[in-house]
Amino acid sequence: MSDKPPRYASWTAGKLPLPELQELKRRGEKIVMVTAYDAPSARLADAAGVDLVLVGDSSGMVVHGRESTVPVTLEEILLMTQWVTRGAKRSIVVADLPFGTYEASDEQAVANAIRLVKEGGADAVKLERGGTSVTRAKAIVDAGIPVMGHVGLTPQTATVLGGFKAQGRTADRARQLIDDAVALQNAGCFAVVLEAVPSAVARAATLALTVPTIGIGAGGETDGQVLVWHDMLGYYEGHAPRFVKRYADLGDVIVEALGRYAEEVRSGAFPEEQHTYKMPAEELEAFEGRATPSSRRR
Ligand code: KIV
Repeated sequence: MSDKPPRYASWTAGKLPLPELQELKRRGEKIVMVTAYDAPSARLADAAGVDLVLVGDSSGMVVHGRESTVPVTLEEILLMTQWVTRGAKRSIVVADLPFGTYEASDEQAVANAIRLVKEGGADAVKLERGGTSVTRAKAIVDAGIPVMGHVGLTPQTATVLGGFKAQGRTADRARQLIDDAVALQNAGCFAVVLEAVPSAVARAATLALTVPTIGIGAGGETDGQVLVWHDMLGYYEGHAPRFVKRYADLGDVIVEALGRYAEEVRSGAFPEEQHTYKMPAEELEAFEGRATPSSRRR
């Protein structure tokens, strides 16, 4: 018998207890998050035992083939959240608030966060940046919805940041980034994503916060890690950032399988006997007996 305490003290079945993520941080147990955009993927993430599934607006790029996450709409995230929550019965589902759905006012942010929870079934929402997003986060938390922050490379505002590149690389920018993370925590965020920041900055942010940091391109000293489904499983043909580790090459597996399928259809090797339906013999006889002369000729 192991003396190790259970990963989640209060969990027996159903959804993982979100407040216990902080306890994982305290015990130094790493938190695992992955993106997913549909029910079967969410089911697989659940089966693999990940803690959090993110319905990320990265979908705009890796699923819908866009150049950035900016055009992603609330309706898209809402629909994908409905699919993902049908698959993820155990993992905590976090839904991204896309660009343009929370910046204008606290009221806008709260109304859209409520839609993601009420209509989408999300357990929590995520928004990007410090600044005005801190008051938006507080308003959403005050409405009773758990919020995850996101600082560093924030793809929704990549143009302002000078593109998809690492952030917090000067002492001033690093301090600002940590101040933003602390402000998000003080606004009530239960965790903060740190994207594409030097590991020294991620380490300092992780020490400064009592809530967990979830890193992506932020080194190994954050409290958890997140990767984008298509990047880590190898079926996204676009540019993959250097921080991505490929755990599988599903793109190659899929192309090989589709190639064999095409070959077998063309050669007539597929479908085989076991892939076809049969009629009871007497029905077949009656059917063929009644067949029209034109259909009999075929
Ligand atoms: O949209 C997304 O997938 C994200 C992760 C990269 C954190 O925000």
